[in-house]
Amino acid sequence: MYTGLLHTHKLVVVLFLLHYVVKLVLLLLNRNEQLANYSKRTKVTEMAISALFLITGLWMMGTSIMKGGSVSTLQIIKLVCVFSSIPLAIIGFKRSNKLLAVLAVLLIIAAYGLAEVNKKKKAGGAVNTETAGSTLEAGKLVYQDKCMQCHGSDGAAGISGAKALGQTSLTADEQKAIVKSGKNSMPAFGETITEEQTMAVIEYVATFKQ
Ligand code: HEC
Repeated sequence: MYTGLLHTHKLVVVLFLLHYVVKLVLLLLNRNEQLANYSKRTKVTEMAISALFLITGLWMMGTSIMKGGSVSTLQIIKLVCVFSSIPLAIIGFKRSNKLLAVLAVLLIIAAYGLAEVNKKKKAGGAVNTETAGSTLEAGKLVYQDKCMQCHGSDGAAGISGAKALGQTSLTADEQKAIVKSGKNSMPAFGETITEEQTMAVIEYVATFKQ
């Protein structure tokens, strides 16, 4: 359901952007008659696309908040970009003000760019998606938070008989199983860290190997 919503939202955003790029090009080329014609013919479509754009966007945001996710700073900047682009676009195209129209389209593109950046960060599975830019950084945060007190900052502390992590002969899958279910005095983390965080911390642990 969420993925369906996401795909619809993406498609609508692309259509929205294309539509405004066409209008902008016509405006910049002084094809005023063509622009007026195009605007007239696409009036209903434009309204439908704009409404779908906002509804699917707000819906996704609402769903993610209800799932316990928080709204990130990036998302807020994105929203501000989108909401400020709309009046700018309306005024810009109505008054044939090229500067305002360019600004409006740039804001929409910026919001789209921010969405992509945000997604890349999320793919890293960070503990805190705002500060961790890569999987390794995310893994390091998880490690410092959950593993360092026993394994030490370099993985070699060996508390309660833990092997130095840099010398482990276990595969990533075997390590994953231990992190999830625990082993002897090592606690299970299956309930406390996500799948992505587990993969990230194992990737980070691999950097202890020389
Ligand atoms: C409470 C202390 C403690 C914490 C916290 C802890 N571990 Fe361990 N870990 C151990 C002990 C003890 C062992 C040895 C278990 C055994 O083989 O009996 C171990 C074993 C391991 C092994 C297997 C090493 C090998 O080659 O046998 C891996 C991998 C590992 N820990 C990763 C982690 C990661 C990743 C975290 C954080 C998510 C973590 N550990 C948190 C105590 C801990």
